[in-house]
This record gives sequence, structure tokens and C-alpha cells, in this order.
Amino acid sequence: MIYLDYAAATPVSKKVVQAMLPYFGENFYNPSAAYGPARQVRADYQEAKHRLAQLIGARPAEIVITPGATESINLALFGVKTPVRGDSAVITTSVEHPAVLECARAIGATILPVDEQGRLNLDDLRKNITDDTQLISVGYANNELGTVQNLKEIAEICRLERFRRAERSLGVPLVLHTDASQAAGYLDVNVARLGVDMMTLNSGKCYGPKGVGLLYVRSGTVLEPIIRGGGQEMGLRSGTENVAGVIGFALALEIAEKKRKSEVKRLEILRDNLEKYITTNGAIINSRAKHRLPNIINFSVDGLDAERVVFGLDQRGIQVATGSACAANKGARSHVLTAVGLTPSQADGSLRISLGRGTTTAQIEKFKPILKEVIENEQKFS
Ligand SMILES: Cc1ncc(COP(=O)(O)O)c(C=O)c1O
Repeated sequence: MIYLDYAAATPVSKKVVQAMLPYFGENFYNPSAAYGPARQVRADYQEAKHRLAQLIGARPAEIVITPGATESINLALFGVKTPVRGDSAVITTSVEHPAVLECARAIGATILPVDEQGRLNLDDLRKNITDDTQLISVGYANNELGTVQNLKEIAEICRLERFRRAERSLGVPLVLHTDASQAAGYLDVNVARLGVDMMTLNSGKCYGPKGVGLLYVRSGTVLEPIIRGGGQEMGLRSGTENVAGVIGFALALEIAEKKRKSEVKRLEILRDNLEKYITTNGAIINSRAKHRLPNIINFSVDGLDAERVVFGLDQRGIQVATGSACAANKGARSHVLTAVGLTPSQADGSLRISLGRGTTTAQIEKFKPILKEVIENEQKFS
């Protein structure tokens, strides 16, 4: 088996599983209960949140634990009070994950185009900000192409806009949110250095358990809950805490941060090696932005039926994706590849290969001829 779909899911590391196990067994208590063992569980939960906060340069009170990135994003987009005053209240880009795009569409946002590498044009952003703009949501690293956005510059644009509003005594807040689901373990996710006001992280993409995420909310940001109930997570996300999940998430992020620099270098070498092989064999590389993740290769062979290639590789014990897993499930054409200007037949002929901690040189060397053979077979029959 060669797993090359780490952008869809990462295996939970053994150490993380070990750290979580006691919270399914002897430490099962509800952290809100008043007795001693429950208080200990509460303390462990708070400690894990503390570590998560530290890892991203935030304060514990700025961390809202959620059941994954999707809900974190929904909270960010619907939680910011956006009276419907036209389409410019929320601005986002055309290459966001559906979790962002579907919320943005429901709100009636401005969805900005990107260039052929998937980058947002900053002049375009500046031009589209109006006095009504309250939220800008730009994904840090794209899940299909790996393109990294210039968040620091975007944060600077927001800072200047806030300054101009203050000078004019205009009380409309402007909040910058980023979906950093694919960034943890590869890019700097320190919120102070990035200058973002809200940030989404996803445990299931950095070798932690699935179904856990967080929303960083800078103190002072006015946010309304979208899920109400017992008042957990400072009232911003009610529901009994997922203690085991958060313990696992904190350790997973800690390990990912420790390994980050060496893992980036290691994966870049593997990626470049595989990419060279793919290019030599006549495919077009779509993931070619200067600033991009070290683990994603997205390429197209015009006219190829990529879904059949995924199936052919699966039969040989190799797992890759066409675009994102969600899009692939629905059999829909990738909105990201369409947004960067690929023709329908190029988009339908594209594969995403994403490397990770378990990827080795031996695996890549084994994968190369199999990929070539499966593509050639598919081309013969199409
Ligand atoms: C960039 C990005 N954002 C959001 C999500 C949604 O994550 P989840 O399904 O875990 O809520 C994903 C998952 O694929 C993602 O890659």
C-alpha cells in the first residue's frame, strides 16, 4: 500500500493515540462535573487548550474548540455580525474550501477571482473593500493546489483600512479570518506574526484525531455563537467537551511544530523528484505557485479520465485523489482548477498527490512507473 492522500486525512500518530486513550477509559468524566476526578479532567482539558494556544501564539481564552474545521469556519463566518448590507459585507476568494464558499454564498459575499497560480490579487482586494466590509476570509494554503496566500500583506491591508475607518470615526469592524487547515505542520501558524483576527485549524490534517478543530478569536473580536446550549467554550460553542480529542489535538500540533522544518525540507525533495518525473512524462503541473506547500502535487493530462486513474491506482494498492475528497465524492469538477483557468478536459484529467510523514523515497520510486503505466492504460481505452 502506498498512501498519497495526506491532504485528505493524516493517520493519527501512535503517541497521540496513547495520550488520548485514558480519556475514553478511567478519565471519562464530564469536565463540567463538580467532583474530584472530573475536576482533574477539566484541568487536563484546560492544560491542552493552553498548549494549543501557546503553539499558535495566542491566549487560552482566545481558543474556541470546535468539532472540526467546517464548524470553526461556520462560526467565523456566521458569528461575525454581518447585517446584510450588500455583497461587500464579506469578501473571500473563489478557491476556498466549500466550508468557506458555501457559507459565503449563503451570506451573499463578494467572491474574488485568483490568478493562474491560485493567488489573490491584493489590488483587487483593496478595490473591493467598502465601508460595509466586516469580514475577509482567505485560506492560508489551498487544499488542492497547495498555493499559499500572502496573509501578512492581507493583514496589513486590513490594518490600514481599520486605521482609515478610525480616522473617520466609522464604527464598522473589519475582521480577517483564515482557514489554515492545510497549513499546520508546514507553515508558520503564529497568529501574531500572521496578523489574523481569526484562524481555523483542523486536528485531522496534522496527525491528530478527526472531528476536532479550533477557531482562534483575537480578544476584542465580537462574535455570536451559532450553537447554543450549556455555555461551554466561553458560550461560543456549547456542548460537552471532546476531552480526548483536544488532548490528542494538542499533542499532534506540538509534534507537527517540532518536526515542521525538517519535514518541509524532506518533503520538498520528494515532491520535486516526483514532479520532475511527471513533467518529463508530458503532464502539466498545476501546483506551480512560488509559495506553496511542500507536500502537494497537482497535475493534469489533457483528456485523461482522472477518476479512472484513481480507480486503477487503487487496484494496485495506491491511494491518490482527483482534486479534493469532497469534490471527488460528488463527482463534481474542481472549482479550484476551474478558477485557475483550466479547461474542463484539463480539470477532469487532473490528479492530486499529497505526501506526508509516511512517504519515503522508496515509495516514490515504486509509484513512478505504476503511475505511468496506469495513465497509459487509461489513455489506450479512452
Ligand atoms: C482547507 C480545508 N478547510 C476545511 C476543511 C474541512 O475540514 P473538516 O471536514 O474536517 O471539517 C478541509 C478538509 O478537507 C480543508 O482541506
